[in-house]
Amino acid sequence: MAALGSINLNKILYFICNVNIILYYFSSTQVMGALSPLDPSSFSRPELAIIKHASLSLNIDFESKVLNGDAILNFDVLEDIGELVLDISSLSIESVELDNGTKLKFDIGEPVPNFGSKLTISLPNQALVGEKLKVKIKYATAPTASALQWLEPNQTSGKKHPYLFSQCQPIHARSIVPCQDTPAVKFTYDAEVTAPEEFTVLMSALRGEVRSNRTTFRQPVPIPSYLLAIAVGVLEQRSLGPRSLVWSEKEEIERSAWEFAETEKYLQAAENLCGPYVWTQYDLLVLPPSFPYGGMENPCLTFVTPTLLAGDRSQADVIVHEIMHSWTGNLVTNKNFEHFWLNEGFTVFLERKVGASLISDPVEAKKSRDFHSLLGLQELSEAVNEQFDPSNPLTRLVPDLNGVHPDDAFSRVPYEKGSLFLRYLEDLVGGSDVFDDFLRSYLNKFKKQSLDTDQFKAYLLDYFKDNKQLKTVDWNAWLYTSGMPPIIPAYDTSMTKSITALVETISQSNATISSLDVRTLNAHQLIRLLQELLERPALPLEKLRLLGKEYGLETSTNSEIVYRWLRLCIRSRDEDRLGDAFDFVNRQGRMKYVRPIYRDLYAWEDVRDRAIDNFLKNEQYMMHVSAYTLRKDLHLKD
Ligand SMILES: *[C@@H]1O[C@H](CO)[C@@H](O)[C@H](O)[C@H]1NC(C)=O
Ligand SMILES: *[C@@H]1O[C@H](CO)[C@@H](O)[C@H](O)[C@H]1NC(C)=O
Ligand SMILES: *[C@@H]1O[C@H](CO)[C@@H](O)[C@H](O)[C@H]1NC(C)=O
Ligand SMILES: *[C@@H]1O[C@H](CO)[C@@H](O)[C@H](O)[C@H]1NC(C)=O
Ligand SMILES: [Zn+2]
Repeated sequence: MAALGSINLNKILYFICNVNIILYYFSSTQVMGALSPLDPSSFSRPELAIIKHASLSLNIDFESKVLNGDAILNFDVLEDIGELVLDISSLSIESVELDNGTKLKFDIGEPVPNFGSKLTISLPNQALVGEKLKVKIKYATAPTASALQWLEPNQTSGKKHPYLFSQCQPIHARSIVPCQDTPAVKFTYDAEVTAPEEFTVLMSALRGEVRSNRTTFRQPVPIPSYLLAIAVGVLEQRSLGPRSLVWSEKEEIERSAWEFAETEKYLQAAENLCGPYVWTQYDLLVLPPSFPYGGMENPCLTFVTPTLLAGDRSQADVIVHEIMHSWTGNLVTNKNFEHFWLNEGFTVFLERKVGASLISDPVEAKKSRDFHSLLGLQELSEAVNEQFDPSNPLTRLVPDLNGVHPDDAFSRVPYEKGSLFLRYLEDLVGGSDVFDDFLRSYLNKFKKQSLDTDQFKAYLLDYFKDNKQLKTVDWNAWLYTSGMPPIIPAYDTSMTKSITALVETISQSNATISSLDVRTLNAHQLIRLLQELLERPALPLEKLRLLGKEYGLETSTNSEIVYRWLRLCIRSRDEDRLGDAFDFVNRQGRMKYVRPIYRDLYAWEDVRDRAIDNFLKNEQYMMHVSAYTLRKDLHLKD
């Protein structure tokens, strides 16, 4: 596994006391064992003592780029234990004490690259089952904390003030707070954060009082550690509805308020399908362009990329997606990241249902849902066949993440293979009428819990125990076999047929290309068109340029269109567009766009070195996860 290529852990034996498990770490074979019995990516042992609540008191230091303060962790003891085990990553631990002031001894294990270290805290006496423990840890983060991005003023729109934001999913929370950094653990939290007065501090929680430089927060619904989030900047806000504000720098606030004006409508449509929204507030924060994802479903405060500001509300599906995470992911959560499809596959599935429910004509609604599913199928095919290859075990719906960093496993596979699997199951059991009831029952059963795929399967089979069709499911093929799904649902192709025909025409050597071809297409259909062209042999330069002009691709401000247009240009080896391509990857950090473009540039031998130079020059401005994954894509050593 490439992630660990540079470590040199020679057969370190890990003896885990209470359970007779010995895990071996081999660096030479690039195989690393699970860090703990329940979660391959976490050292922590929540089956012995589990965090139920955290109280954070943090100070933001823009000068030294650190957070410092303390975390008080409340544990429920589940087995008799003499120590507590937590995850940390490049944290300086100053002290650990019990709530009565007793100082505790602690040990920090040898860091495992990209996974952090094991923090073992020794208790003065054996803690017994049923006891409660309160442990206070004083600490500071490192300026290189992988969850944090510290922006210089010149990297913001306003250019005057620095900015800080976090991205903890999948396993970066350990770089900002000592914790059980596994989604198997859910806890409530409160926080008190100080920052210079001109700044606004936001967290994935309900905002309490703001007194000069101090802001308080509370999150009364238990969350997994990866949903901890913080952002600090000079921000403005606008109201979007009775329970929603949008936040951004001043420069983006009007565009943001316009783009996301329909948020309340989406929330209500989501509640119609899934039941009440339990998180009280649903705010949006539009981040600076280096934010690596389309959106991140931080509770009470979704983080989004400014590339969603297309000016046509065409990227509303991302907002619907993040809203759906309020149920799948945030309320019902994968137990570890091998079961990530329970978060993302369900969320994509719900996103498309809710998107369709906003269309009043049921025939059109079905067409639209299937159209978006077909777009997703294309993205799945690209992930399976290009990002990986069909035999790569990371293309399984449930991959084995022993020794694999979840950031390396990240792809559209859990999203699209997962959603497609649910659609297959829905069709099998008799359609949405019955399946929607099952979904509500599933959400209700597992709310505020974390589960794995076996628990989902058992619940489904029990719920539909009289259904004969369900007995025909080849679970092994769906869950544990690499490559494309074994069965593709019979999607309605009426919205893609004309596009496929147009692509056919464009591909012919005698094709005439005119703006009339695309006059009736909406943004998503144009995206589909470009995506289909990307799956075919490169277009001759002359035709490509005509397409760019006639179809308005050169001047588009919709990042989904710009992204695909630039990839087509790279495929056709259009050197005149290279400047635009570099500009696009330097201007924003959304990995969905940046990674494939860099991979395409890498594949073009004549520009490979320029692509690498461009990356190295800009790496310092990227968020950790973008720089980390791009290094892999560009075959660079750490
Ligand atoms: C604090 O609590 C611990 C654990 O219960 C106990 O061993 C210790 O004696 C207490 N210290 C004080 C000063 O009460
Ligand atoms: C941005 O500002 C930082 C320090 O404030 C400086 O080191 C850096 O060179 C500047 N970058 C650009 C592109 O101006
Ligand atoms: C916050 O205000 C207090 C009291 O005015 C001051 O002591 C402290 O240094 C301030 N902290 C920050 C981060 O500005
Ligand atoms: C282009 O050629 C194909 C077959 O070679 C023919 O069917 C089609 O009508 C031609 N189209 C135009 C616009 O001349
Ligand atoms: Zn998602």
